[in-house]
Amino acid sequence: MPKIEKIGVLTGGGDAPGLNAVIRAVVKAAHNAGVAVIGLEDSFDGLVYTDKARELRPSDVTGILRRGGTILGTVNRGNPFLAPITTPEGTFDYSDRVLEMFQRLGLSALVCIGGDGTLAISYEFYKKGVPLVGVPKTIDNDIVGTTSCFGFDTAVSFATDAIDRLHTTAEAHHRIMVAEVMGRYAGWIALHAGVAGGADVILIPEIAYDLEKVAECIRARERLGARFSIVVVAEGARPKGGTVSVVEAATEGQVERLGGAGAACAAHLETLTGKETRYVVLGHLQRGGAPTAFDRTLATRFGGKAVELILNGQFGKMVANHPPDIVPVPLGEVTGKFKTVPLDYDLLLTARAIGVSFGD
Ligand code: F6P
Repeated sequence: MPKIEKIGVLTGGGDAPGLNAVIRAVVKAAHNAGVAVIGLEDSFDGLVYTDKARELRPSDVTGILRRGGTILGTVNRGNPFLAPITTPEGTFDYSDRVLEMFQRLGLSALVCIGGDGTLAISYEFYKKGVPLVGVPKTIDNDIVGTTSCFGFDTAVSFATDAIDRLHTTAEAHHRIMVAEVMGRYAGWIALHAGVAGGADVILIPEIAYDLEKVAECIRARERLGARFSIVVVAEGARPKGGTVSVVEAATEGQVERLGGAGAACAAHLETLTGKETRYVVLGHLQRGGAPTAFDRTLATRFGGKAVELILNGQFGKMVANHPPDIVPVPLGEVTGKFKTVPLDYDLLLTARAIGVSFGD
């Protein structure tokens, strides 16, 4: 195996708290092993344009452990392989350009930190001969092969705090309060934050809901003297026989933007129950701010493991959390799939057992 002297690191897809903690761990672990690190800006754009790559030394990553976002920037543009790319140097086939720039920068390997889209692009480049290791990131926690991704714990903590705060108004005004949380294909955030926040109803993409059932749950609470209800709805939840709420349609290579699930539920529940109902969309607030201690440690472990895999020549792998270990799993086994909440997941069953309605 050729000696590893210089590696590149990039972040792609939507940001998640903990990206900077991974970058920091990669830079420090590599530096301590005598390997230089090049930070590539705005995902694979760092391997397309000539002004988007810079050396990262340990002093460049001091103090970023607790910062949200990513010091490298990121893009969430869908499938870049679909069109040629134009730079000040000319127009190129996308993958040819990335391969050429990888050589030009003298890189031995890449650490690609991202969600399903970035990991899928990374896998394509691995198959074209780029030695790389993937690091899974998403607040949605829907990447297969790993029990958790950094960012999820922070998002759940934030959403739980928000639900706690909604209880105040719900109780004071005897209202239904609906909180729309992220979760495009999977209801992990809604389920965990919903249970942690004491929600009465949790609507997730895995279980198509019937709002009449939800309304009945709320009426039953009323009969028992509870004059308010908290509903948590994942953005990707859909009514039985209906579709997800979309604010922007999909374009070629780009998935649709979701939004409106909370508003739709709130309007219908008000009609069905006659109770005053309000909704909030937590949106990107869930992706912002400082990572929790759990996410900082998971991100640091992922970064350290990614460098270890590169030094051992274990490419084409994604680092994964398999408690108590961080292990490599083949990228080919994780791309193109989503880890949804199993219907027999113990937290889901427990939520049902304590009376939470899933609208089914
Ligand atoms: O994948 C994470 C996620 O937060 C999804 O839950 C959400 O649908 C999407 O990103 C929003 O992405 P954007 O920042 O492009 O609006």
